[in-house]
Amino acid sequence: MTHYSTSMNARSTFKLINGVEIPVIGFGTWQTPDGEVAVSAVKQAITDGYRHIDCAAVYGNEKSVGQGIAEGIKAAGITREQLFVTSKVWNTERGYEKTKAAFYKTLADLRLSYLDLYLVHWPANSKQYTNAEELNRETWKAMIELYLEGRIRSIGISNFLPHHLEQLFDMEVQPMVNQIEYHPGFLQKENVAFCRQHQILVEAWSPLGSGRVLQDKDLQRIADKYQTSTAKVCIRMALQNGVLPLPKSITAKRITDNLQVFGFELSKEDIELIANMPESYGSGLDPDQIDF
Ligand code: A2P
Repeated sequence: MTHYSTSMNARSTFKLINGVEIPVIGFGTWQTPDGEVAVSAVKQAITDGYRHIDCAAVYGNEKSVGQGIAEGIKAAGITREQLFVTSKVWNTERGYEKTKAAFYKTLADLRLSYLDLYLVHWPANSKQYTNAEELNRETWKAMIELYLEGRIRSIGISNFLPHHLEQLFDMEVQPMVNQIEYHPGFLQKENVAFCRQHQILVEAWSPLGSGRVLQDKDLQRIADKYQTSTAKVCIRMALQNGVLPLPKSITAKRITDNLQVFGFELSKEDIELIANMPESYGSGLDPDQIDF
């Protein structure tokens, strides 16, 4: 499935430009504490029915997430191939050689033999680097090689704005995914439209605004109307807009709950209402301004 459909369920997938199927909801692990908390959250997510886990080296928990994946696969009685696993190369590891080394470290930490998706976590920007574009291209060259060697089923970027993406478009393989901040009050409409135009799937990090949006009065009114929670309105809104949400939780009940978003459908008017919310609840992290 390339677009949102009313018959979607937890096993549904979006299709990337290279034909790879990606489960429509991913389980986020940002800010999940390393150790037993990460192991049990990931394990539970898999036994609950999540088939897509979103990781990153910088989250500092990949060994635990890897253990959770191993335990979850066993407990759910599924194979590794039935799970979609993403990770990201961190900013200190940009460049051709370092990106490759970072990839193999992540693979070892996660105890996997391949990744389904590997992302460049943030673009190098010209505020920090005089050779930002060259650095982004060198990083991307390593990503392409790993992809063509078959170590990664799909490759993409994260937090890239259109002008960063344009730096890569003449290279052999174009990004298949852009994972960006996306939640009510912060829908990055221009970036999303640009990605769509180039058949790049958009994934939403912080689909719940890291919890900041959940008390919003307008969202609460919408949630009440569907007898659901504001969290589920956020997840559903992303899905209906064709954006792949990556909700994170370490709370057992919420992990289960965040997957129960297929029994209702937001009306066009409510989607519109959310789209017209004033800019709010953003993290403040601007890819052109970050200094980390
Ligand atoms: P916790 O992990 O303690 O359960 P995001 O996915 O946008 O980054 O948001 C994650 C934040 O939202 C975390 O603080 C998480 O808390 C909280 N959260 C996740 N799911 C829910 C939910 N269904 N209801 C309320 N808060 C939630």
